[in-house]
Amino acid sequence: MIGRLNHVAIAVRDLAKATQVYRDMLGATVSEAVPQPEHGVTTVFVVLPNTKIELLEPLGAQSPIEKFLARNPDGGIHHICYEVDDIVAARDRLVKDGARVLGDGAPRIGAHGKPVLFLHPKDFCGTLVEIEQA
Ligand code: CO
Repeated sequence: MIGRLNHVAIAVRDLAKATQVYRDMLGATVSEAVPQPEHGVTTVFVVLPNTKIELLEPLGAQSPIEKFLARNPDGGIHHICYEVDDIVAARDRLVKDGARVLGDGAPRIGAHGKPVLFLHPKDFCGTLVEIEQA
């Protein structure tokens, strides 16, 4: 059912510093920082030949990554995102198999302007999984 790895998201406390690490030390192509108030994060996309890395910095007091950073003060891998052809069909199949979808279960428009859902880490090997309709 899942297709390509769309991105790996890394939560960081200092986006400028993380951008510098990826751009200057690792020599990657990085985007400008994009504030995404509706998601409570500011993002920088690192474009790799086969996938993307999404650097996330908290934006606002209600940021969904604040708790994660309190537990992981050095930052860390926050979630991984797989592409699916049909997000509603994927959700229905996962729910039927007993997986928990976060939130109200309705796909939201994600950071790339496409419908996404998040799946409970306890059902997926301890990893928060995002699925995105390709
Ligand atoms: Co993501």
